[in-house]
Amino acid sequence: METTLAIIKPDAVARRVAGQILQRIEEAGFQIRAMRLVRLTRAEAEGFYAVHRARPFFGSLTTFMSEGPVVVLALQAPDAIGKWRALMGATDPAKAEPGTIRRDLGTSIERNATHGSDAPATAAFEVGYFFPGIELA
Ligand code: CMP
Repeated sequence: METTLAIIKPDAVARRVAGQILQRIEEAGFQIRAMRLVRLTRAEAEGFYAVHRARPFFGSLTTFMSEGPVVVLALQAPDAIGKWRALMGATDPAKAEPGTIRRDLGTSIERNATHGSDAPATAAFEVGYFFPGIELA
């Protein structure tokens, strides 16, 4: 079993497709270990995406991520990190496979509907950022 951090981003919450994304998560067989609706401050978004702070899109990304509420989830499944990344599709919705969340619901490389941890160490940091105390099985 593995646990990963998922975020339903402000674009998806604002467009009222959070429920549709949660349905896809449940139908894919994930166990939802924890879930919060939260509006990030700019500083919280900067802390979460600190690994990207040198990137040219860092300012725009953290402004976007703090523009409205997000749904934050800890998802558990065998190979949860890879399984959630496959369900989301490629970062850029234009390059994501048909039927993936980002292809169906994202509108740009930035406003791409969902986030997922990319490796076990990242998942440990990201799950702990929002849900301190959760064990990563
Ligand atoms: P996410 O999986 O949340 O991880 C970092 C985010 O930065 C990514 O999704 C995109 O929303 C955003 N991002 C990545 N690359 C770019 C880019 N070239 N331009 C703008 N935003 C980007």
